[in-house]
Amino acid sequence: MTDGDRPRLAGLRGEPDVYRAAEDSHLLAKAAAARIESDDLVLDLGTGSGYVGRKVAEACSARVVASDLNPHACRQAHNAGLAAVRTDMVSAFRDDSFDWVLFNPPYLPTPEDREWGDWMEQALSGGEDGRAVVNPFLASVRRVLAPGGRALLLVSSLTGLDAVRNMARNEGLMTAEAAEEQFPSERLVVLELTPTGT
Ligand SMILES: C[S@@+](CC[C@H](N)C(=O)[O-])C[C@H]1O[C@@H](n2cnc3c(N)ncnc32)[C@H](O)[C@@H]1O
Repeated sequence: MTDGDRPRLAGLRGEPDVYRAAEDSHLLAKAAAARIESDDLVLDLGTGSGYVGRKVAEACSARVVASDLNPHACRQAHNAGLAAVRTDMVSAFRDDSFDWVLFNPPYLPTPEDREWGDWMEQALSGGEDGRAVVNPFLASVRRVLAPGGRALLLVSSLTGLDAVRNMARNEGLMTAEAAEEQFPSERLVVLELTPTGT
């Protein structure tokens, strides 16, 4: 997501209901492929088209489960060959399930009166401060990580990197930059999240 007018951009891409892989997806997939090992069990959370999950399955021979709130995204990920589960965040999954959780969340700060109310909004809008979906993710991801498990979270300078790091620390997660890329309007960062005390 690097365009300032993303709802319009999404429409122009001809994919009205499912986020199509972009620079953020590529950065997350690259960072994940460099870390995940064969036979790791991976959750591609907010899978969209299934792009990140497919890349990881191909590059690492990992076992991937894709999930999304958006039923159109689940269908697309399923058609791309991934096991897909429709659920809000990680609520459908058991404790201690995954070696890795990967998430490229909606993170664009969007004032309430600019919300536009469709599946593409769910893919892009992070509410007023950009962290409306990031914060519940940080609060819930630790539960589904297997012992030794970690998460990779894509964030943007638009989302408030320090606020995300602070929230992660409060939820018992150490953060380290796994990858980053600078664009004219934002810096994209992949944060590696490791539960403390494990
Ligand atoms: C920026 S898109 C990323 C799509 C894909 N992972 C990629 O990188 O191309 C964010 C995705 O998160 C999904 N999403 C938003 N809120 C969610 C929630 N509470 N639970 C699960 N998925 C959610 C959206 O439907 C959307 O598919």
